[in-house]
Amino acid sequence: MKKILVTGGLGYIGSHTVVELINRNYDVTIIDDLSNSEEKVLDGIESICGQRPEWIDLDLSDKSKSNDYLKNQNFDGIIHFAAFKAVGESVKNPLKYYMNNIFSLVNVLSNIKKNVNCSFIFSSSCSVYGEAEKLPITENAKIKTAESPYGNTKQICEKILKESSVAYNLKCIALRYFNPIGAHPSGKIGELPIGVPQNLVPFITQSAAGIRGELNVWGNDYPTADGSAIRDYIHVVDLAEAHIIALERLLADNNESNTEVYNLGSGNGYSVLEVIEAFKKATGEKLQYKIAGRRKGDIISAYADTKVAEQKLGWKSKKTLEDALKDAWRWQKNIM
Ligand code: UD1
Repeated sequence: MKKILVTGGLGYIGSHTVVELINRNYDVTIIDDLSNSEEKVLDGIESICGQRPEWIDLDLSDKSKSNDYLKNQNFDGIIHFAAFKAVGESVKNPLKYYMNNIFSLVNVLSNIKKNVNCSFIFSSSCSVYGEAEKLPITENAKIKTAESPYGNTKQICEKILKESSVAYNLKCIALRYFNPIGAHPSGKIGELPIGVPQNLVPFITQSAAGIRGELNVWGNDYPTADGSAIRDYIHVVDLAEAHIIALERLLADNNESNTEVYNLGSGNGYSVLEVIEAFKKATGEKLQYKIAGRRKGDIISAYADTKVAEQKLGWKSKKTLEDALKDAWRWQKNIM
């Protein structure tokens, strides 16, 4: 049984990836300091998989604690999710983001640099492309100056990863996610936003549930068919599966360079107004919304060119926007 460490394994994408790993018979250890997650996520994982993974409560940005734990371990693979991800908060408190997101990566890499057989998967983001010049966005699109400290940490971390993987001959993959949405179809794990959700789908489900007021549609004057902004929404379970496929590519030594980069999206772009209509159709629920001004820092349109992921990883998203919205709604009802 291969031993896999999932850092941030109690978070949104991490917990779904842990489920897929356990379902494929990997021996999973989670490191998570609960800074943006809850211990009860372990109950959800256990109830889906019939197994409770080992969980270590550890802040990976703490060098001596990280070293104390990691120096005695010998993992076959590490999937590194542990990072802060709130764009607005990162603008208000950039050092919090630089310290956590960058130190955690450096501490983990420092401990595996002698173990060249350890496969390493890094969570990156399509935010590295900013407003791309060409759509759909390929992996070769230009990396734009980041709009936020959060976005900047993803760019810096990718660079640290590339340089370290070459210098120490490590096997790494950086996965650039488009917009992850949805929840596990069992309704037992999903996204747990703290406070008022900033992302579209958690706001929609909380608004439909009566927890929030009407949804603000941030802008209807973009140069798109209906004027609202376009994104590539990808079901979190599809995304979780892509992590296993990427990991197995490295475990089998099938990678073509020390760090490979893949876009993970569905390849389809949907506008905010289309997502609202899709939610109403998928769930039969009502949703009140109003058109508000553009949100600062938002881009017009982003969706993935999925060819490289399809050809090299053999991965393609299977679930539809409607599947994701149904699953997000089931999860919302379960946590009320
Ligand atoms: C955001 C982050 C991105 C991160 C991703 C994680 C920014 C600028 N980018 O992407 O770095 O990787 O979340 O999921 O924050 N919208 C509304 N009303 C709302 C909320 C959102 O109209 O109440 C619109 C937004 O303007 C956007 C779309 O819905 O057009 C998606 O927004 P969101 O879910 O916040 O994701 P991104 O901004 O694309």
